[in-house]
This record gives sequence, C-alpha cells and structure tokens, in this order.
Amino acid sequence: MNPTKETMNPLCFFFVFFFFALLQLSEAAKDSSAQQVKLQNRRLGSSVVFPVSGNVYPLGYYYVLLNIGNPPKLFDLDIDTGSDLTWVQCDAPCNGCTKPRAKQYKPNHNTLPCSHLLCSGLDLPQNRPCADPQDQCDYEIGYSDHASSIGALVTDEFPLRLANGSAVNPHLTFGCGYDQQNPGPHPPPPTAGILGLGRGKISISTQLKSLGTTKNVIVHCLSHNGKGFFSIGDELVPSSGVRWTSLATNSPSKNYMTGPAELLFNAKTTGVKGIDVVFDSGSSYTYFNAEAYQAILDLIRKDLNGKPLKDTEDKSLPVCWKGKKPMKSLDEVKKYFKTITLRFGNQKNGQLFQVPSESYLIITEKGNVCLGILNGTEVGLDSYNIIGDIFFQGIMVIYDNEQHRIGWISTDCDKTPNEYGGELSEEAYPTGFGLITELFSGSDSSKNKNLASDGEL
Ligand SMILES: *[C@@H]1O[C@H](CO)[C@@H](O)[C@H](O)[C@H]1NC(C)=O
Ligand SMILES: *[C@@H]1O[C@H](CO)[C@@H](O)[C@H](O)[C@H]1NC(C)=O
Repeated sequence: MNPTKETMNPLCFFFVFFFFALLQLSEAAKDSSAQQVKLQNRRLGSSVVFPVSGNVYPLGYYYVLLNIGNPPKLFDLDIDTGSDLTWVQCDAPCNGCTKPRAKQYKPNHNTLPCSHLLCSGLDLPQNRPCADPQDQCDYEIGYSDHASSIGALVTDEFPLRLANGSAVNPHLTFGCGYDQQNPGPHPPPPTAGILGLGRGKISISTQLKSLGTTKNVIVHCLSHNGKGFFSIGDELVPSSGVRWTSLATNSPSKNYMTGPAELLFNAKTTGVKGIDVVFDSGSSYTYFNAEAYQAILDLIRKDLNGKPLKDTEDKSLPVCWKGKKPMKSLDEVKKYFKTITLRFGNQKNGQLFQVPSESYLIITEKGNVCLGILNGTEVGLDSYNIIGDIFFQGIMVIYDNEQHRIGWISTDCDKTPNEYGGELSEEAYPTGFGLITELFSGSDSSKNKNLASDGEL
C-alpha cells in the first residue's frame, strides 16, 4: 500500500526562504539589539525546564506551553529540533489559523527590521533585497509535508523561570504567522505554532545562548504515556551513562545529523551500514531510506512467520498487522518483535541507540499493530534517515551544541526532573499542566491522527 500523504507529516528539506517586503502588519520596526545587549553578561549555567504533553499516536506531536509577550499569553508549541524558526499564529489578521483570535499572538509595533542580523544573516537564499532597512522582515517556511507558514519576524519578551526559580525576561525573535497552509486530507495540528530548536541563528536555543541566558543544549524526554519534560541548558544532563555521538561535520543544513551508523536487528547486522541519521523531534515517525526500510521490513516479516499476526490494511500507516481480536496494548504483541539498533561509530566501541518494539510500533484505534517506520525514499528524503518521536520515547535525548554532539540515555520520562534529584523550584516547573483540555477543547483528537508537526530538514 502506498503511504498516503497523511503519514508523511514531518521533516522537510531546507526550504526556508526569507524575503523582506511590504506586508500589512508592518509598522515602524523597532530594533531589538539594544535589549539584547543588556542581557549579554548574564552568567551561564542555568536551565529552563518545561513539562511536555503529547503522543506519537493519535496526536503525532509533543508540545510545551510557553509564555510570550507582556502581558504574557500562553502558547502551546510543537517541539521541533528539525527546524530553526519558532512561529505562532498571528492576529494580523490571519489565514489558516486554528486558534481563536484571543489565543493568537498580537503584534505590537515590534516587527524586526530586514536589516537586522537575524533577518539578513540567515544562511538562506535571499530572493528579495532589503530595500528600506526599516522594512519588516518577512519569512516563508515550508515543511516537507507541504504545510507552510508565511509571516513576519517580531521580537518580544519570553518570561521564563530558570531552574533555580529566578525569573528572566529575554527578548527573542520569532515569526508571527498570518498565513498557514495545510494541504492534504487532514486538518492542521491544533498547536499555536512551532518551537524551532535547530542549529541556526534564529533557533530559540541559539538566541538564549547568545543572550547568555542558558547554554545551547536541548534536552527532551518523551514518554510512552503522553508526558515528559523538555529543557534548554545543560543542568539536566546526567554526568554519566549518556551515550554520545558527534554531529556530522558535513551536515548539509542546520539539522542535527549524525552518523554514519550501522543498522542492527535483534543485535545482529542487517548489512545496512554508513547511513546518515537526523534527529528530528518535529517528525512523529521515523523514516529510513529505501535500503534500510526494505531490510527492516524483510526481517520483521520473516519473524512474524507462523505468529498469530496477519497483514492488514489500516489507514493510519502503510504497514499493519491484525491479531485474532483487536489489540488494546503493545504489551500483547511486543514479544513478536525484536529490538532495532543503530550503532554509531565503529564495531568495537560503537554507541548503541536501541529501539525496543514499543518504540517503533503503535496500536491504532482499530486495534491493529502498525510499523512506525516509513520509507523515506518514497517521500523524497533521498538517502537521509530521520529519527522521529516514536524512537525517542523512554529516552532522554540531548542535543549538545556546545560540544557538537548528540547523546541519549534510557530514562523514565514520566517522572519529573525533580524525581531524579534535580532541584527545580516549584515556580520553575509548575506541576499543574492540566491545560490540555482547555487548549484543545473543540478539537477531536481522533481526527488529528498522523498530523504531526513538521520539522524542516
Ligand atoms: C539562579 O541562577 C542565575 C544564573 O545562574 C543567577 O543569576 C540567580 O541569582 C540564581 N537565583 C537564585 C535564586 O539562586
Ligand atoms: C521505498 O520507496 C522507493 C522509492 O519510491 C521504492 O522504490 C521502494 O520499493 C520502496 N520500498 C518498499 C519496501 O516499499
């Protein structure tokens, strides 16, 4: 069965282009660099930590709640390490906004001028000249599932609590997105926008680092049960037990690409070696290139010979099996599936990224079990391999931009960082994260399945 558009949510090839022009929400832009200078000498060594909600299926994304503006407004943003630009739905007015106006971001004469470094310094094709330095900086970002956002860059306050309880108020630049397109059969994700955590200058973690607020280290821990935590800064990084691999020096974009890696199945070689791997929390599923995908599919199918699971069609994903009766939990079938492993580095002392079956399979609403690994070649990813949220469940993933490496360690992501002996103040890590119902009231989550947030690759 052909994987349909709805399964292709994530990732995208650097397809961002910024241009500067003349749009309505432009107003005399005010330069934010003065505010940025003020914060420059803040001591490093702090972190901000947020509770996470979401799931791979049926939602297709994990998100945090973030305050923006003064007075602050709360926005639910999809955590995306596969793209740089943070944007929120913009009351400009807005096309393709899913939030009511009261929950959109209202720009306040705070657009970024196109002469600003964050606009002109982007390593992107610059199609349009910055005619008047005071013109607003417009952006257009496209994701690989063909979703897109058009808007203008603005700068505003991000009231944050450091892990020790101290309040900080960095001014950060992000997109006010007033024209969102989501072609395809599924409705757009109901989040207010995307939290861009890639490696580029405009990434929120890069901005926080250049203001001296936190180190440029991103941590996420996504649980199988809809919870988790997320942090910018290095204080949650365990001092031992983390497996590290270097970011590829030839990384063609601002993505977190590592490798080469070897693919193992049931701890045995598959013959697939030297593959490039991109870590992308904006992708709900994992994409293997045609060779790796074929190898894994063959091995899984061979294992299922004589087992009480039969191929079936399920609109959720391309490869599914049904049991004797509809399944409720992966516990019923995970014994039929072996562990998949990516080995980074050489055979002797390589770093293993182990993926148990509950981190590559899902149970659909119809009670079938489906493979959460898709054919990346088929969706135009070429030879790239993208690891998405499904593989990240139950591990802490660390994107260390200070030392240009990625780390991971098996973790119970349902626990809060405090339960690991962290010392997060109550204010820094509010426990009442029960806002989901309020945020998503009126949205039927079953309609949103497979609609992941998108990372740009
Ligand atoms: C928290 O950490 C920041 C940065 O390290 C420091 O400036 C601040 O004084 C600390 N606050 C408390 C309450 O210790
Ligand atoms: C993966 O996609 C490629 C390109 O469309 C195709 O040639 C190949 O047969 C696919 N592999 C499988 C196992 O479906």
